[in-house]
Amino acid sequence: MPGKVDALLDEKRIFKPSKDISDGSNIQKWMENHGLSSYSELIEAAARSPEWFWDELAGELEWFSPYSDVLKWDPPHAEWFLEGKFNVVHNALDRHAKGPNKDKTAYIWEGESGEVRTLTYLELYKKVNTFANGLKRLGVEKGDVVSIYLPMIPELPIAMLACAKIGAAHSVVFSGFWAKAFRDRINDAGSNVAITADGFKRRGKLIELKEAVDTILSQTPTIERVVVVEHEGLEVSMEEGRDIWWHEVVQGMDYECETEVMDSEDPLFILYTSGTTGKPKGVLHVHGGYSVGIYATLKFVFDLKDNDIWWCAADIGWITGHSYIVYAPLIMGVTSLLYEGTPDYPDPGRFWRMVQDHGVTVLYTAPTTVRMFMKYGEKWPAQYDLSSLRLLGSVGEPINPEAWIWYHKHIGGDRCPVMDTWWQTETGMHLITPLPISTLKPGSAVKPFPTIEADVVDDNGVSLKSGGGHLVIRSPWPSMFRTLYRDPERYVEAYWSKFPGVYLSGDVARLDEDGYFWIQGREDDVLNVAGHRISTAEVESSIVSHHAVAEAAVVGKPSSVKGEEICAFVVLKETSTNLENFQHILKDHVKIEIGPVASPSTVKIVSDLPKTRSGKIMRRVIKAIVRGEDVGDVSTLANPEAVSELKKAF
Ligand code: WTA
Repeated sequence: MPGKVDALLDEKRIFKPSKDISDGSNIQKWMENHGLSSYSELIEAAARSPEWFWDELAGELEWFSPYSDVLKWDPPHAEWFLEGKFNVVHNALDRHAKGPNKDKTAYIWEGESGEVRTLTYLELYKKVNTFANGLKRLGVEKGDVVSIYLPMIPELPIAMLACAKIGAAHSVVFSGFWAKAFRDRINDAGSNVAITADGFKRRGKLIELKEAVDTILSQTPTIERVVVVEHEGLEVSMEEGRDIWWHEVVQGMDYECETEVMDSEDPLFILYTSGTTGKPKGVLHVHGGYSVGIYATLKFVFDLKDNDIWWCAADIGWITGHSYIVYAPLIMGVTSLLYEGTPDYPDPGRFWRMVQDHGVTVLYTAPTTVRMFMKYGEKWPAQYDLSSLRLLGSVGEPINPEAWIWYHKHIGGDRCPVMDTWWQTETGMHLITPLPISTLKPGSAVKPFPTIEADVVDDNGVSLKSGGGHLVIRSPWPSMFRTLYRDPERYVEAYWSKFPGVYLSGDVARLDEDGYFWIQGREDDVLNVAGHRISTAEVESSIVSHHAVAEAAVVGKPSSVKGEEICAFVVLKETSTNLENFQHILKDHVKIEIGPVASPSTVKIVSDLPKTRSGKIMRRVIKAIVRGEDVGDVSTLANPEAVSELKKAF
């Protein structure tokens, strides 16, 4: 790992956004309107009074009734915009549908088959309202949690907005996870209503979602109703009294539905993410502060203007999609592209053809996608007219300078600045990021957003001017998560106890002499596979749940495309027989237990795993073997011979 950072720090190239871009940027105009003559003046003013900065931005949104105070900080618990009455849906939809944006396109949806549908703000508003009324008829009330398991189809944002409109929290589960992940998240949240679809296509292959959901519904005791979107026209079994088609739910429903008046601090959604244990964490976000934070960052970082066509090419099942496909772009009233399928299907030109055909002006994607296209070669983007692009974005993992340069050159035509945004499910919004007025260094996420006190510290919490350390945030921000659902102790323990009152991100970073942040990756046992957060513990417990397996250790192996790949070392039970093709069986087992994203790319069967004398598996040693690094001193292990076996197996 240190080698990687050192190589990054050798990166000396810098890029400055053109004068046109920086002079015309939202941040520049905002500074002018607030009498600030330079960005450093803004940073200083915002640091002196974060309340001033966030109050100004909150004032750009509509409140049913004003808040009394901007912030109450009782570490590690923050409340923002206290006593304010607010609903994100009023800002994201109602005010546009009733105003000059009503006939503006909110979403251009493109299916994997190439089918295109558009929804104006007014049409989206009506669809959300009819579904919200339908949910009410099904018994959903303010304060309930609705679990959603849908592919990238318009019904996904519609369902989320409908929940938020009536004051129910949504819990969206990525449709690339298998149904068992949906089961666990339903049970953790205690939802009464689930929303899914008959099926969808991925790379032309039909995924029968409802059929998969049917296999888990006997193990979700709280579920009373299941709403099913007819997307592929599949024949599915519908259980009388429990299952109901989406089109039946909305039938005869009114186009108007009153937007629930929520408190700023009322829950908006839960989104589960991987932690260091096998049990996913239910990250909870609220209406008020979350909306203000994502609005401010989208406005300033991606600089969206009225005529932009914004494409955040993430899946809505992740935080990137929640914040920057659903809520923030709608709050800003822009037009977004929503794509159902895979970037390189049916050919590696798909992505670039979509940029060209829809005239995308700002594109936000992940380094893994950029690296995949680098492998296909620049001949693919070169076939399309990408001149509509003005800004590019990157998220999910560190972007290596070569991928950054390729993206900048072959996609951005050397004219589009790349916004490398660092943030997390927990942070809700970008925290360390360039702005379109920043000098960029490829591979660096640049500097903290105004008011964000990011720091790199050693084990004692002391700031480091050089060298890698824990990336922490020292003060609250509006769209921070408020707790872990039904697990308030874990919220404190996992994030705020190593350095009391300071947020521990779980990432390692380094600062350079200009105060630029270079994010290196996770410091815990969380892997980052193609931008997806996967916990090693979760994969291990899935492997161990196979009846033939005694023990397993999972580690990440660097990959030139995916960032990391999952490598599993497995010890079988002595009684296990008939093990032909067992690697494949285990890969499939994990696919079904968690989902294809968590399936190991390598499975090695070994007779023992290196352990300490107290019986702990030494992942550090296994990691070193997989990376071809020196394993260090292994003499204190209980079974040093396991190391040589692993080396041979690898
Ligand atoms: C990683 C995704 C480097 C990081 C928004 C973080 C990044 C985890 C970047 C959060 C970036 C995200 N540079 N690493 N620009 N953005 N990460 O919760 O390890 O799915 O902790 O949120 O992704 O992943 P999550």
